Amino acid sequence: MQTTTLQITKCESSKIDQVNFDKLPFGEIFTDHMFICDYKNGAWSNPRIQPYQPLQIAPSARVFHYGQAIFEGMKAYKDDEGGVWLFRPDQNYERINKSAERMAMPPLPKEYFFEGLHELLRLDQEWIKPGIGNTLYVRPFMIASQAGIIASAAEEFTFMIICAPAQSYFTGSVSVKIEEHYSRAANGGFGYAKAAGNYAGQFYPTQLAKQEGFQQVVWTDATEHKYIEEAGTMNIFVRLKDTLVTCPVSDRILDGVTRKSLLQMAEDMGIKTEVRPIAVSELVKGIASGEMTELFGAGTAAVVSPISGFSYEGKRYELPELSKDSYALRLKNQLMNIQYNRSEDPHGWRE
Ligand code: COI
Repeated sequence: MQTTTLQITKCESSKIDQVNFDKLPFGEIFTDHMFICDYKNGAWSNPRIQPYQPLQIAPSARVFHYGQAIFEGMKAYKDDEGGVWLFRPDQNYERINKSAERMAMPPLPKEYFFEGLHELLRLDQEWIKPGIGNTLYVRPFMIASQAGIIASAAEEFTFMIICAPAQSYFTGSVSVKIEEHYSRAANGGFGYAKAAGNYAGQFYPTQLAKQEGFQQVVWTDATEHKYIEEAGTMNIFVRLKDTLVTCPVSDRILDGVTRKSLLQMAEDMGIKTEVRPIAVSELVKGIASGEMTELFGAGTAAVVSPISGFSYEGKRYELPELSKDSYALRLKNQLMNIQYNRSEDPHGWRE
């Protein structure tokens, strides 16, 4: 640790017995402990683990007024022998610092992130249940905690890690509306950052889509709404004939850890991949010709989520049912086999 050593205050009694692990709503139940540290006078300090509890924070703190907040999404997995694994946590660490830079927040020292994370997982390891599909969703986040509503970057921040046992993010099939009016991100903006505001801005258009019977919005480019960019909170993949296609990351598109892992795994499996802009018209034509057979979202929370259909210009398009040898299912199974230590890990992603 940079200035002080990690202080640990354990909870008096665990809440774990009150939790029904067979039926977990995503992100509503949190483990017994949380990690927290503070940034003040130009340095991070006071790393501590304490019982999960409400924070004391000034109502004028910048985070409440200007949304200076970033986060990460990670998962911990338990294998059949009780071993606990993370998946490419170095990628989350790098990304939170990229997000921090864009949102005028201080970088987090590696030892704070990793020592906090590992100690928290050690203390709360009973909350990670074995078996494919059971995970502990880990949410590192940083907020501008400095009091005062002047509209400029804060100089005091709080970084925390909280953890929620989780199963699937979506229940049932996902149908999406291709967005023709609202935008998620713009050139020169901060769409690539995991910044809180990127998500808040999605809620209203997603509510409208839900009223029309869709679960998610597929975001399109802000200029012409002609190219797909992301699917709700996920990166997006399309299978066109035998090729798996996804859009390139940019300052509008999140550099997803699941996205880059799927691309690598697809190549390892001999699946042809392309990273290029994908026009909405290709999806419409692909459905008509039968050449587009899969559309799916990929992200840490949702893993690989097949999309059953989409709407565009008021018309609905349905995708064929997924076969067992679909790219989505093959990649999802392979990814989970790596994450749960059930297969070789050729790229050393498990830690
Ligand atoms: C994740 O997949 O971890 C995300 O960040 C999505 C989240 C908004 C649930």
